[in-house]
Amino acid sequence: MADLSVNIGELQMKNPVMTASGTFGYGEEFADFIDITRIGGIIVKGTTLHKREGNPYPRMAETPSGMLNAVGLQNKGVHYFVEHIYPRIKDIQTNMIVNVSGSAIEDYVKTAEIINELDKIPAIELNISCPNVKQGGMAFGVTAKGAAEVVKAVRSAYKKTLIVKLSPNVTDITEIARAAEESGADSVSLINTLLGMAVDAERRRPILSTVTGGMSGAAVKPIALRMVWQVAKSVNIPVIGLGGIMDWKDAVEFMLAGASAIQIGTANFIDPTVTVKVSDGINNYLDRHGYKSVTDIIGALEI
Ligand SMILES: Cc1cc2nc3c(=O)[nH]c(=O)nc-3n(C[C@H](O)[C@H](O)[C@H](O)COP(=O)(O)O)c2cc1C
Repeated sequence: MADLSVNIGELQMKNPVMTASGTFGYGEEFADFIDITRIGGIIVKGTTLHKREGNPYPRMAETPSGMLNAVGLQNKGVHYFVEHIYPRIKDIQTNMIVNVSGSAIEDYVKTAEIINELDKIPAIELNISCPNVKQGGMAFGVTAKGAAEVVKAVRSAYKKTLIVKLSPNVTDITEIARAAEESGADSVSLINTLLGMAVDAERRRPILSTVTGGMSGAAVKPIALRMVWQVAKSVNIPVIGLGGIMDWKDAVEFMLAGASAIQIGTANFIDPTVTVKVSDGINNYLDRHGYKSVTDIIGALEI
């Protein structure tokens, strides 16, 4: 059996398989299906400073080999998380990581400060692809300047491993990744969802209440893989790859392209046991090819 352990900043993981925010609840929901302690890291739902109701229904639409969602960061806010959810999940024997979202820099900073106090949360993932209401509805993650501002501010408030999650809805994702690295990120994860749209021709209406939504699932994999490869060549911090990973083979492809760890999102809705299958599949691949450690395949793509 090969050594599957990987490190992301100071975060030590027993294997490179993580779950993507918004697709795995708080982990407990999956405990009836799998031994969730076999997962390297669980990234919980997007958490904001204040409670958010999310967007009106319908907020999901199926697409060929994928889906669109417009959940809109529905959550009960960080104070509720600290009081009611953290006590339930803190002793789960894996890395519980909080995805921090916001619409203004102060909100991100306050949320990160509060989570910094929680002993059993070893890292946060900063979701910088949400609308920046205060600055005219633009997302922080779509300009290098915006990304640098929010990452710098959070870096000074948050002392543990800081992962910054990048938006694919940009012309050059490497620019944003470098800005995150220069501003103190310990790692970048990519990709978040791609902006898409679905129309109901009979009703002559958009399917989603928000008209546009975030596209995920198998259909986005080639784009995600390309972006992970580009970013891995452009930064010196570890890259976490995601977007359309459905099985172990997809996971290995992302690691060969330069990812130090991977996340699984939409595939959890299709098969709630997919995470452990991916971990076993990576292990078999390493054994078959005579690798002693999973770190040997990171960026091992021959071009
Ligand atoms: C229903 C749903 C909810 C999501 N919620 C969040 C979220 O709260 N924060 C976040 O950073 N990403 C969120 N995402 C994006 C995923 O974490 C992931 O980046 C994206 O789905 C691509 O990976 P996948 O193709 O494996 O699903 C969500 C995705 C889905 C499908």
